[in-house]
Amino acid sequence: MSKKLKILVGTVTNTAQSAAQAMEMACAHLMDSIEIQMMDGLGIGIFEEDALYVICTSTTGAGDVPDNAQQLYASLSNEPRYLGAVRYGVFALGDSVYPQTFCNGGLRFDERLADLGAVRVGGIFQHDASAGTEPEVEAANWSQRWLPEAQALKAGLPQATSA
Ligand SMILES: Cc1cc2nc3c(=O)[nH]c(=O)nc-3n(C[C@H](O)[C@H](O)[C@H](O)COP(=O)(O)O)c2cc1C
Repeated sequence: MSKKLKILVGTVTNTAQSAAQAMEMACAHLMDSIEIQMMDGLGIGIFEEDALYVICTSTTGAGDVPDNAQQLYASLSNEPRYLGAVRYGVFALGDSVYPQTFCNGGLRFDERLADLGAVRVGGIFQHDASAGTEPEVEAANWSQRWLPEAQALKAGLPQATSA
């Protein structure tokens, strides 16, 4: 079984991209390949690969997914298909100064993916821009906790820890 991780990035000012790069560096030794893909222009077909997926997205507007993620997000509704083989994690970036819509970008993707039968591994990580923590550090730590659990689940093995 190939060990591939795809990190799909939704961003406005590239914080999510930096977080994705930190995950890539932190997990390089654990996978055969790690691919960071900006969400621009993607559709639901991106979930057809034999890979683990991380949705790494910020939130903008009034709790919206970033512009570069709109097409992929819409495609999950407009071209629905069963994604029961997909195992994914969510690293959501937001800011608690927006309490009503905190990290909604990630939460929205999670909701749509779950509706389509995809299975999230672990909890949704919510990075708060007002918390004073570095998103890159949090992303590296989270991904190193999350990946072994995701791999075990994908392989049908009992889960060892909780991310
Ligand atoms: C115009 C604007 C609107 C935002 N709206 C929200 C929001 O509704 N909810 C939230 O949790 N964060 C919101 N944020 C915070 C960003 O999601 C957060 O700063 C994030 O780290 C930015 O990541 P990015 O550089 O990858 O886009 C907003 C930021 C801006 C500039």
